[in-house]
Amino acid sequence: MERSLVLLKPDCVQRRLMGKIISRFEDKAIEIVAMKLMQVTPDLAKQHYAEHVEKPFYPGLEEFITGAPVVAIVAQGLDVVRVIREMLGATNGLSAAPGTIRGDFSSSRQMNLVHASDGAEAAAREIALYFSQDEICDFDSCMVSWCRADDE
Ligand code: CMP
Repeated sequence: MERSLVLLKPDCVQRRLMGKIISRFEDKAIEIVAMKLMQVTPDLAKQHYAEHVEKPFYPGLEEFITGAPVVAIVAQGLDVVRVIREMLGATNGLSAAPGTIRGDFSSSRQMNLVHASDGAEAAAREIALYFSQDEICDFDSCMVSWCRADDE
């Protein structure tokens, strides 16, 4: 079982797409084990996007990600990091395939609606940035036995 940090970014919140996007993850039987609406501060943005801080697009990215609340989610499932990245599609909404979340809802490289961790190591680091351990709910999902076989 794997976890990923998912952020519904400010464009997703402002465009009232939160419910639609969360439904895509629920429809795929991905577990949501933590979720909150919160404001990203410039300091948190710099920690989250540490690898981009020196890039020319970073000031615009920080202004965007701190410009309205985000919904931070811890998603859980088998191979969930890869599965969610594939559900999102390419970074630039204009290049993302139809049927992916960005392909269906975004026409922008910066305003691409959703962030998801790009690997298990990044997921652990990002989850710790956004959530304390006691905010993550470890519970038995009643539908797991109808979503995959015991040996999967
Ligand atoms: P995300 O998956 O959150 O990871 C880094 C973010 O930076 C990315 O989504 C985009 O929102 C943004 N981004 C990446 N490349 C560019 C770029 N060249 N110009 C502006 N924003 C970018």
